[in-house]
Amino acid sequence: MSFDQYHEPPDELPQQTRTFARMIMSLIEEAEAIGWYEQRMAVEKDREAVAIMHNAQHEEMKHFGMDLEFLLRRKPKWRETLQGILFKQGNIVEHGDEAEEASEKDSGGSSGGKQQKRR
Ligand SMILES: [Fe+2]
Repeated sequence: MSFDQYHEPPDELPQQTRTFARMIMSLIEEAEAIGWYEQRMAVEKDREAVAIMHNAQHEEMKHFGMDLEFLLRRKPKWRETLQGILFKQGNIVEHGDEAEEASEKDSGGSSGGKQQKRR
């Protein structure tokens, strides 16, 4: 069992922070699995095997979505930002910039978003 998701002593972290960290790790693992299936399907010659992998990859995307929804329910600001980006037509980068600006406006100016960008 890995405890790599913790960057602070787990004993000092509140339960909800540990749960949050686990869900972030799950999100990462689902994203990795999606990428691995994509690569396997690209090289696999057996159509039936590819069909099974395709089905499995879809499952992983569903898991990714559930993990993300869990996190967004705990971070309303993140949901607000992603609502400006996801499920829209047009330029993704522009939507991202607009969503960030709207988020900063709602926060009354400079937000943590800019600080995170500088890391
Ligand atoms: Fe999964």
